[in-house]
Amino acid sequence: MSKTVTFIVQPGGSLNGSARVPGDKSISHRSIMLGSLAEGITHVKGFLQAEDALATLQAFRDMGVRIEGPKDGELTIYGVGKHGLTAPQKPLYLGNSGTSMRLLSGLLAGQAFDSELTGDKSLSGRPMKRVTEPLAEMGAEIETTEKGTAPLKIKGQAGKLKGIDYQMPMASAQVKSCLLLAGMYAKGITSVTEPAPTRDHTERMLSGFSYPVEKQGSKVSISAKGSLTANDIDVPSDISSAAFFLVGASIAPGSDIVLRHVGINPTRTGVIDILRLMGAKIEVLNERIVGGEPVADLHVVSSPLTGIDIPDALVPLAIDEFPVLFVAAACAQGQTRLSGAEELRVKESDRIQVMADGLQVLGIDAEPTADGMIIQGGPIGAGRVISHGDHRIAMAFSIAGLKASGPIEIEDCENVNTSFPEFVSIATKLGLKLISEQAS
Ligand code: S3P
Repeated sequence: MSKTVTFIVQPGGSLNGSARVPGDKSISHRSIMLGSLAEGITHVKGFLQAEDALATLQAFRDMGVRIEGPKDGELTIYGVGKHGLTAPQKPLYLGNSGTSMRLLSGLLAGQAFDSELTGDKSLSGRPMKRVTEPLAEMGAEIETTEKGTAPLKIKGQAGKLKGIDYQMPMASAQVKSCLLLAGMYAKGITSVTEPAPTRDHTERMLSGFSYPVEKQGSKVSISAKGSLTANDIDVPSDISSAAFFLVGASIAPGSDIVLRHVGINPTRTGVIDILRLMGAKIEVLNERIVGGEPVADLHVVSSPLTGIDIPDALVPLAIDEFPVLFVAAACAQGQTRLSGAEELRVKESDRIQVMADGLQVLGIDAEPTADGMIIQGGPIGAGRVISHGDHRIAMAFSIAGLKASGPIEIEDCENVNTSFPEFVSIATKLGLKLISEQAS
């Protein structure tokens, strides 16, 4: 039987000191994918050793790629070339990882073998039509459930995919990346136009592996003409993991922290912009470029926050950070409004409903709307909240403990291991009074 994990956070305290949070999840996934398809040997450091990225790693091992590690975040990938993957002997199980499933569906659509992608309960409920429909236009054959969910049964269409010019209806880096990976196996040109900028790690890493990708405004194009040349990767720390401490240090008086080596790709820094608009004091220090991605140290000192209307343009740039930004809003003076974020309803959980429910348990006036939330800042109480197996909800409510009047218990926290297994140790080292209890 699997273990259930409950987090218990005692109220108060502040965050102090410095920390390096683990590697970026999005970049870690892509390092395995492109390293596997490259000609030659790719060394990766800073790889995120957490369940989601490890699911991608296992999938490529199951398709015949030799990968050594990870050990202390280091991996050696013996690339098999663009056409070197072999048929997996069993369905590829991707756990909780939407990124693995959506990106792999594109990559596998054009292979010379069939495959099947499966996931846990949460992933099996998440929408996959957003990838299977445009892939079908390219000539892919993918069977889903009637609801358009996993398992995905993919009939490899080697040599038969054709490029499309796709206007993406939602701002999704997963859909964009899926189609670009399929485009590497399609006749003609595959283009994706995004309605708003989304994370561009796939495009950057393709260029790093010398694969031609063209960007014109909001349109990215790729073709099958190209090959990937192995390229060493240094994965920056994940700003989505750093976000918990950016908020924690902002809301807890007396805090002063430095988060080292954090990825600050401009398609990911919405959380810094939103917190600064609320009054946070975040300094970006020692900016540098590491392996094609901008990196910096982030210095945060506590500062009173004020509620804001979150600008629509920042929503895709902070899409994974809203659970903890809702906690920041609960601690701010006045009202914070978020709209244009319906995507949050189809993440690892319905993050609008689950966060509103938990904040209400803690005495906050949080009103969920179809595409966002309206939150009145106020005193945070004590109570028991449920994370619904969503890693970012579990960590967000842990941070709320810094301002709570009594203990907060958070149920169902085992999935913190999908993105940030070191959360409890780093958070407690910085000063959060958090313990994790396991029951089987
Ligand atoms: C990701 C893209 C985002 C994000 C997810 C990781 C990626 O999803 O929420 O955690 O690595 O491409 P969408 O593209 O569906 O918004």
